[in-house]
Amino acid sequence: MPDTVLEVTGLRRTFGTVRAVDDVSFTLAEGGSLGIVGESGSGKTSTARIIVGLERADAGQVLLHGSDRTARARGKARRLARARQIQLVFQDPYLSLDPRTTVEAALREALRLHFPDIDHARRITELLDQVGLGTRAASALPRRLSGGQRQRVAIARALAVEPAVMVLDEAVAALDVSVQAQVLNLLADIRAQTGIGYLFITHDLGVVRCVTDDVIVMRHGRIVESGPTAEVLATPQHPYTRLLLDSVPRPGWDPRQLAAARRALSLTTNRGNSTDS
Ligand SMILES: Nc1ncnc2c1ncn2[C@@H]1O[C@H](COP(=O)(O)OP(=O)(O)OP(=O)(O)O)[C@@H](O)[C@H]1O
Ligand SMILES: [Mg+2]
Repeated sequence: MPDTVLEVTGLRRTFGTVRAVDDVSFTLAEGGSLGIVGESGSGKTSTARIIVGLERADAGQVLLHGSDRTARARGKARRLARARQIQLVFQDPYLSLDPRTTVEAALREALRLHFPDIDHARRITELLDQVGLGTRAASALPRRLSGGQRQRVAIARALAVEPAVMVLDEAVAALDVSVQAQVLNLLADIRAQTGIGYLFITHDLGVVRCVTDDVIVMRHGRIVESGPTAEVLATPQHPYTRLLLDSVPRPGWDPRQLAAARRALSLTTNRGNSTDS
C-alpha cells in the first residue's frame, strides 16, 4: 500500500447560510488520483481552495505528509515550502497566466522563488519538453497560444515547483474534446513519471473514468458516496450518483431519459442546504 500524501478530515466551511463544505474527509495516496465529482455548487471548488490554502476552513484539518496545513506556518521559508507542496491548476489558464509575461518568464519566476540556485534555463527546457511544448513556446505570450497550449503552460508552472499534490479544478473543462484527451493523456504520463498525487475535480464523469483511481461524489457540501472509480461508476449506490451517471449522454440512449435526469438534477442542485436561494 502506498503511503498517504494528503489527508483531509472533517472539513467545514459555510458562506452565510450555505454549507459549502460540510464534514468532508478523504485521503489521497502518494501518486494516486482521486476524483471529486458533483453538480455545480456542490462544494468542489471550496474544498479545493481550502486544501490549497486560498480559503480558510471553519473546522477540520488538511494534513500533508502528516503535517497540518491549516495551522499557522512560522517563517518565510516554511510558508514558501508549504505553498510549494500543493499546486492548483484551474479551468481558465488566462486567469492564472499574466498576459504580459512570456512562458519562459512565468516559469523562471516560479523557479526563482522556490529554487534560486538551480540552472533555470535548463530546467525550463526540461519543463517545456515534459508538457509537450517545444522550446519555441518559451518566448510566447499567453494570447499567442491555443487553449490547450496555455493549459500545458499552467501545468508546467505547477510542475516547476515540484509539488507533492496537484489540485486540478475543471482543468480540461474549457478545452475541445480532442484537446481534452491530449491533456488528460499528458496528465496521466506526468503522474506516472513523477508520482505527484492528483485531486481531480470535475463535473464530467467521463473524465473521472479516464484519470482517477478513486472518486468521491459531493452534494450540498457533503460526500454522499466514495470508492474505487470503476466500482462507483459501475454500481452506484447513492441515488444522486445514479442521477449524475444518467445525465451523461451515451450512445443509443433515449433522449427523454437524459432530459429527465438533467431536469431532476437541476431541480435538486443547491437545494436543501440553503435558505437564501
Ligand atoms: N466566496 C464565497 N462567498 C459566498 N458563497 C460562496 C463562496 N464560494 C462558494 N460559495 C457558495 O458555496 C457553494 C459551493 O460552491 P463551490 O464553488 O465550491 O461549488 P462547485 O462544486 O465548485 O461548483 P461548480 O461545479 O459550479 O464549480 C455554492 O452555493 C456557492 O455559491
Ligand atoms: Mg467549482
